[in-house]
Amino acid sequence: MNILITGVSAGFGKAIATDLVEQGHTIIGTGRRQHKLDELKTKLGDNFIPLCFDISDISATKTALQSLPADLLNNLDVLINNAGLALGLDSADKADITDWQTMINTNTLGLVNITREILPVMVAKNDGFVINISSIAGNYPYFGGNVYGATKAFVTQFSLNLRADLVGKNVRVTNIEPGLCGGTEFSNVRFHGDDERAKKVYENVDYITPQDIANMVSWLISQPKHININRLEVMPTAQTFAGLTVHKG
Ligand SMILES: NC(=O)c1ccc[n+]([C@@H]2O[C@H](COP(=O)([O-])OP(=O)(O)OC[C@H]3O[C@@H](n4cnc5c(N)ncnc54)[C@H](OP(=O)(O)O)[C@@H]3O)[C@@H](O)[C@H]2O)c1
Repeated sequence: MNILITGVSAGFGKAIATDLVEQGHTIIGTGRRQHKLDELKTKLGDNFIPLCFDISDISATKTALQSLPADLLNNLDVLINNAGLALGLDSADKADITDWQTMINTNTLGLVNITREILPVMVAKNDGFVINISSIAGNYPYFGGNVYGATKAFVTQFSLNLRADLVGKNVRVTNIEPGLCGGTEFSNVRFHGDDERAKKVYENVDYITPQDIANMVSWLISQPKHININRLEVMPTAQTFAGLTVHKG
């Protein structure tokens, strides 16, 4: 299969790309850091095609896609919208507005832009699969989750609405909603490079790993074409729900 994965320079995307190349698929892998994409190219070889651009930039996204060979672009089987980030964990009255804008521009605008570019290809061949990486942050509020959680709630609802629009078409959509996953750069990015603080998030916790997510993606794309998994919400066993908060004066 021909599979485009956004955000393969780290974390989930890197693990997914590695597994899928090993399984014999052709992967177009994106990210902003050319040197990370080059490292992956060296490791994965000819079946990995790096594409360096900022997904929050609409025209950069279009230009990057147009640079692909037409027969590859027009024969995409799977789009995995994985690129995304959380920035900050402050309450809404203290959060950095530019962090909010970056999350919105990356997690929601970037994701819808690339989906709108690729979807007509899948509809034209009446065959395709869009996998969106959302988060449980879109399902359950938590302190400091404010805009990050809102962007992921957007991704989740967008996935469900895509299913509605694709009525009668053989194009599948799955929304993956992971909880706490370690072994990625997620918290290092969230805490603006404060690696000590990031490390603490995963201390003494048996968290989900990028390999676990890659296994789920492999399972999803191996399902027969008449099966659509709408949503896949997954948390580590160590993580569960908090009660509602009541502040007593
Ligand atoms: N880790 C978790 O606990 C967790 C839980 C639930 C959901 N998620 C979601 O899972 C996805 C992957 O997260 P991860 O944990 O693997 O994080 P990660 O290790 O930080 O990887 C994020 C990837 O997204 C790319 N990216 C970020 N901003 C981008 C932009 N503007 N343009 C292009 N690429 C961009 C990064 O590449 P460059 O930096 O090279 O651009 C990187 O490859 C995200 O959508 C995240 O919200 C993560």
